Amino acid sequence: MTKKHIIIDTDPGIDDAVALAIALYSEEVDVKLITTVAGNVGLEYVTDNTLKLLKFFDKEIPVAKGFDSPLLRELIDASNVHGKTGMEGYDFEEPDNHLLLEEHAVNAMYKTIMTSPEPITIVGIGPLTNIAVLLKLYPETKSNIKEIIFMGGSASRGNSGVMSEFNINFDPEAAKIIFDSKLLVTMVGMDVGLKALVFPEDSKKIKDMNKVGHMIYSLFSKYRGGSMKTGLKMYDSTAIAYLLKPDLFEAVETFVDVELNGKYTTGATIVDLKGYLKKESNATVCLDINQNEFKDWFLEKINDCK
Ligand code: BDR
Ligand code: CA
Repeated sequence: MTKKHIIIDTDPGIDDAVALAIALYSEEVDVKLITTVAGNVGLEYVTDNTLKLLKFFDKEIPVAKGFDSPLLRELIDASNVHGKTGMEGYDFEEPDNHLLLEEHAVNAMYKTIMTSPEPITIVGIGPLTNIAVLLKLYPETKSNIKEIIFMGGSASRGNSGVMSEFNINFDPEAAKIIFDSKLLVTMVGMDVGLKALVFPEDSKKIKDMNKVGHMIYSLFSKYRGGSMKTGLKMYDSTAIAYLLKPDLFEAVETFVDVELNGKYTTGATIVDLKGYLKKESNATVCLDINQNEFKDWFLEKINDCK
């Protein structure tokens, strides 16, 4: 099997933790590097959370710390969704930090991409700050980036502003750099995140699957991305699902821009489905997901976390 060589850029984050579990235990994936970025909570917490997860999973993947704020904007956070530390609900062992590289995430990404014999896919499941700076500072990396798949944006409504999704709203200028990059870009946004649900009967199954499932179940008790009853939104796992099983999705190629100066809409992704703007497509946008098949895939993937 040829594995997919990837870098994951993340801000754990309870749904990030679940997505990382799936990616790290997937045979089809070779995670070369994990980079952290401020988002759900501050950079120190999200980096610590990443290292805690790797210790828990017993996986030796290098980690590099990235930006602690958006490019231009004031910091916002989502501790109301993920708890004060970003990963409340499970008592993890303290990590010893031996996986933490000294270099900045952007430099670590640069080295990983430039020395990789295989083109690298970047999977972004947090704000896009690190990835945007990588593309600006080291445009030569583009020739060895296979594609960028990220969770973020919305072709409809928002969860951080009326029309804006959190990862894009956190750093809209960074998101614009990604859409303008001319790389293969796939936006796996809220339109599918809202449908990637875990219901109570699934959570119970997850709890008894294995040690990872038990940990995830404990995190779910503190996760406010939906409710246990009406379904928990597995936003970030949808980006991994797209990487591994794109046929779960209905997607279109279209033009997307990011609203930078809206009166009410800053941080919104303008997904021009009807071609009003007469611009060339610059992204693939996931608009729908097969909910039942996603659920089966998701449960199977958590079951494989051993
Ligand atoms: C995104 O924002 C974060 O809170 C989640 O981790 C996910 O990446 C959902 O809008
Ligand atoms: Ca995230």
